Amino acid sequence: MINTSRFLSDLHHLRSFGAQGSGVIRPAYSHEDIAARDWLANQMDEAGLTVRFDAMGNLFGLAEGRSLLLGSHSDTQPTGGWLDGALGVVAALEVARTAREMGGPAISVVSFQDEEGRFGGTTGSAVWSGLMTLTEADAATDTNGITLAQARTAMGDRVGADVDPAQFSGFIELHIEQGPTLDAAGEQIGVVTDIVGYREMMVTLTGQQNHAGTTPMALRRDAFQGLSAFNARLNDRLQNVVTPQSVWTIGHVALAPNASSIVPGQVRFSMQWRDGNRDRLDRMQSVIETALAEVVAEVGLGLESGAVLGLEPVAMAPALRARLEAAAKDVAPGRWRQMPSGALHDATNVARLMPVAMLFVPSIGGISHAFEEDTAEDDLVAGLRVLAQAAGLSG
Ligand code: GLV
Ligand code: MN
Ligand code: MN
Repeated sequence: MINTSRFLSDLHHLRSFGAQGSGVIRPAYSHEDIAARDWLANQMDEAGLTVRFDAMGNLFGLAEGRSLLLGSHSDTQPTGGWLDGALGVVAALEVARTAREMGGPAISVVSFQDEEGRFGGTTGSAVWSGLMTLTEADAATDTNGITLAQARTAMGDRVGADVDPAQFSGFIELHIEQGPTLDAAGEQIGVVTDIVGYREMMVTLTGQQNHAGTTPMALRRDAFQGLSAFNARLNDRLQNVVTPQSVWTIGHVALAPNASSIVPGQVRFSMQWRDGNRDRLDRMQSVIETALAEVVAEVGLGLESGAVLGLEPVAMAPALRARLEAAAKDVAPGRWRQMPSGALHDATNVARLMPVAMLFVPSIGGISHAFEEDTAEDDLVAGLRVLAQAAGLSG
């Protein structure tokens, strides 16, 4: 039988790596991230799984022979919550450990590296799934200009051979919802139908740095005013193409020189947009590009746009999804639903290799990617039970 107190105790132990108040700071390849991976590796080893780190730092605990893969990621946002990713990894560990104790079925565990996108987004699973090469990933930089190639040297001699995806029959990821739907409805389980697609690019607007007291307004080429005008125009124009489920975010802004008496000469910012429909992602992109072109012409700015990164929307595999639905009916009768995922997940990349499915438990107040992120203990345990049952254990 699964051991819910062992599961909760492990979850709280993982929280201690990089703990900051109620949140966690454990970005990919940080000292805390690697210490957490070492602890997880040790738990996997004690559970009788074969531990393997690949070149990206993805951590696998492998069962013998063909197995079902469960897991998520254990890196966090720069200031993140304690459950995003961690829940799916620790629940996978508990299910695999119980399966070993009961003599089957064969369950393997994974904690992917850099899901939170220090170097772009779901980088560890993107390389493992073949979406990008290790060489391409190595060239990516974080917001401080450190390359992934430099960062992953911190994995040291842990790195072993690649892990062959052909040994896995499928992948199931348990995750917190990270949105308000289940919490508002008083429900416990969301069985995911599909995961949205996203696109993201870095944009640099260059104007003329100048004196904030002597430069007449009409003569300024102010990079911040450019960003501000772009944002207002974008919010207006996107109304013509989006649905209430479409989202867009300017989440990182670096203004230079960022001083109160200087007209800003340059701004570098991230532009991200998400939607469940591929055509709409394209239409949003052309609105963004048009608004940018108009604003730089009007304000007299230079424009440099980086490559557009992204992941396409992905549907979950019907057979695995049906197993989750049957388990949800059993564990949380009348308190579960089917729902799309607005957050990105490693499951999107893994779907290139094998059937994948996902389930959610509620996020209190719909808060995530923030220190306040939390989930009621009963709901964490309900998620574990559904995962265990769908993986072939009796909850
Ligand atoms: C991953 O956490 C995301 O940005 O959805
Ligand atoms: Mn996550
Ligand atoms: Mn996240």
